[in-house]
Amino acid sequence: MSFSDSVVQRPEPTPAGDLMRQYTIDDYFLDRAIDLAWLGAGRTHPNPLVGAIVVNDGHIVSVGYHQRYGEAHAETIALERAGEAARGSTLYVTLEPCAHHGNTPPCVETVLKSGVRRVVIPTLDPDDRVYGRGVAILRDDGVDVDVGRRCERAMLLNLAYFKRVLGLGVAVTLKMAVTLDGRIASRAGSRDQITGTDSLRFVHRLRAVNDAVLVGINTVVVDSPRLDCRLIDTEATPVAVVLDSRLRFPETSPMQAGDRTVVVVTAETADEDSVVALRQSGVRVVKCGSDGGRVDVKAAVAELAAQGIASCLVEGGGEVFSSFTQARLWDGMHVFVSPMTFGNEGVALSEQAFDRSQIGAVHAGASAGAGDVLMSFVNEKTRDTLLKHLL
Ligand SMILES: NC(=O)c1ccc[n+]([C@@H]2O[C@H](COP(=O)([O-])OP(=O)(O)OC[C@H]3O[C@@H](n4cnc5c(N)ncnc54)[C@H](OP(=O)(O)O)[C@@H]3O)[C@@H](O)[C@H]2O)c1
Ligand SMILES: [Zn+2]
Repeated sequence: MSFSDSVVQRPEPTPAGDLMRQYTIDDYFLDRAIDLAWLGAGRTHPNPLVGAIVVNDGHIVSVGYHQRYGEAHAETIALERAGEAARGSTLYVTLEPCAHHGNTPPCVETVLKSGVRRVVIPTLDPDDRVYGRGVAILRDDGVDVDVGRRCERAMLLNLAYFKRVLGLGVAVTLKMAVTLDGRIASRAGSRDQITGTDSLRFVHRLRAVNDAVLVGINTVVVDSPRLDCRLIDTEATPVAVVLDSRLRFPETSPMQAGDRTVVVVTAETADEDSVVALRQSGVRVVKCGSDGGRVDVKAAVAELAAQGIASCLVEGGGEVFSSFTQARLWDGMHVFVSPMTFGNEGVALSEQAFDRSQIGAVHAGASAGAGDVLMSFVNEKTRDTLLKHLL
């Protein structure tokens, strides 16, 4: 093959998304505010997750995040902590400050009283009572407001909230852990811990902000996962959903602890006696359309929506992950890359599972914890739809 052939055969570059943008000090502080916001995961529903940082003269003066539904908002906590030091400062907050009286007074009032000179937010708040109003009030009073930086990362923070408030259907988030050599398991049928504690805790936060957590039947059989949120402080218990066309679901599973709702989504062709037996063990069995003998993921998500589930975290394994990416049935994606290798015996993600240009993924940022790197993506279509409502 000549040199020019190899150039021609190179894949088209992925649309640049966030990658071509210059990373600035504003982006840095917004990223830190987003990190803080995640600490409230599982306690703020139906409110969004919000974090805030007050920066004066290049120094962080104070921080805050929305800790619990009904309690103080992030920016109010941060500004109260800052006191006089907020005068002339820049306030970084992960969502437009509220302009209405809810459980707490409007945050814009606190911002104006505090003497903040500039406010930096990634997106507006689509809540009708706030949308654009918070920014207008601040600007009317001479506060400089910058909207739009780190918006992809902020979308992932509140994906379920944004889609619910805007009536855009079920928010689907994919999560996967891979080794440095791209493996999801050390060998077929093996249960492995790939990521460290910080990553696991983040996964539990992701679970806690979703109504449901979904896995394929092989993962249930191999890993016996609990799919709960035990590593964080939350009461949230997302519904456990399993795609299982032939009803191989075991007699007992750790995910059935307490009065947890477990839904097994199976094909229309599933054996009726097995359906009855499973129902008797307390599992909700839903039959839905299939594709080549397998539960059709689009039909499965539609069934979940009919059951009142507005957000779903898809946790694998590899086959299920591929089905969702191939169907382009996802809004957000988190891929943990761990600094270990499994070598040739390891199970790789299928080739089609993760081709950024093919599946339309826009990079939304990376972060590190416990030795792992987390790469996050927003579906290009979801981003474009949300941008129309959030900027
Ligand atoms: N690294 C990670 O993040 C991660 C996460 C989870 C699991 N894992 C590992 O991955 C391995 C299991 O993964 P896996 O790829 O073998 O299986 P999987 O994705 O957990 O389950 C696949 C099975 O689910 C059923 N299914 C029903 N509808 C489906 C659909 N539309 N698309 C795909 N599957 C559907 C199929 O069985 P039926 O035809 O019988 O319905 C299919 O064989 C284990 O080793 C586990 O430890 C890794
Ligand atoms: Zn507020």
